[in-house]
Amino acid sequence: MTLRLDSTLSLISPNISDNCQQFAPLKLGIMASGNGSNFDVVAQAIQDGRLNAQIQVLIYNNPSAKAAVRAANRGVETVLLNHRNYQSREEFDRKIVQTLRHYDVEWVILAGWMRLLTSVFIDAFPERIINIHPSLLPSFKGIHAVEQALASGVKITGCTVHIACLEMDSGPILMQAAVPVLPDDTAETLHARIQIQEHRILPLAIALAASSSKVTLSVT
Ligand code: GAR
Repeated sequence: MTLRLDSTLSLISPNISDNCQQFAPLKLGIMASGNGSNFDVVAQAIQDGRLNAQIQVLIYNNPSAKAAVRAANRGVETVLLNHRNYQSREEFDRKIVQTLRHYDVEWVILAGWMRLLTSVFIDAFPERIINIHPSLLPSFKGIHAVEQALASGVKITGCTVHIACLEMDSGPILMQAAVPVLPDDTAETLHARIQIQEHRILPLAIALAASSSKVTLSVT
């Protein structure tokens, strides 16, 4: 029988950051397609001692992704895997898995990774892939989540960090933050406020996921 401590409980006692410090640093592989501000906040949380982890590698798929520049500036190794050079999603994912293994990655963080995942990837890191998405899932999955929220007329949206599974933008939710939609919001202004919340919850959610996983007990 597997006994898993409830993640809410681990937020109260022990304190998740103290709990995390008891273990070896998490070995993270971060994947990004674009700007990389979420990469940066994870790297900064590690530098500040708020997250007990190390970034083994940044994988990016667009040659012009600013995330790669951010990683290089912080001395993090980068690997460009351009999906356009692969015959199928599966072949691309096999290369990603091979690269993550090469860098001895334990946890994968999709920080603005704009590609669908296949079972090749999901099955290689079961319950170890964390995704961030700019909506309160399960609302507004997929691309243009912020525009979808604006078009729908909701008054509150936000962001979600969750464990990734095969279905796009689905899987157990680790953390969410709510953001009000203001009357004169554009996609840009709303996304900017959502990103402020993303930057708060992503490092916390990584610590929470790792903490919950480390206190999983096997009882026979
Ligand atoms: C973030 O808003 C993230 O939630 C979103 O891409 C942005 C990346 O920003 N991810 C998705 O839409 C995934 N479905 P960043 O490059 O500045 O970290």
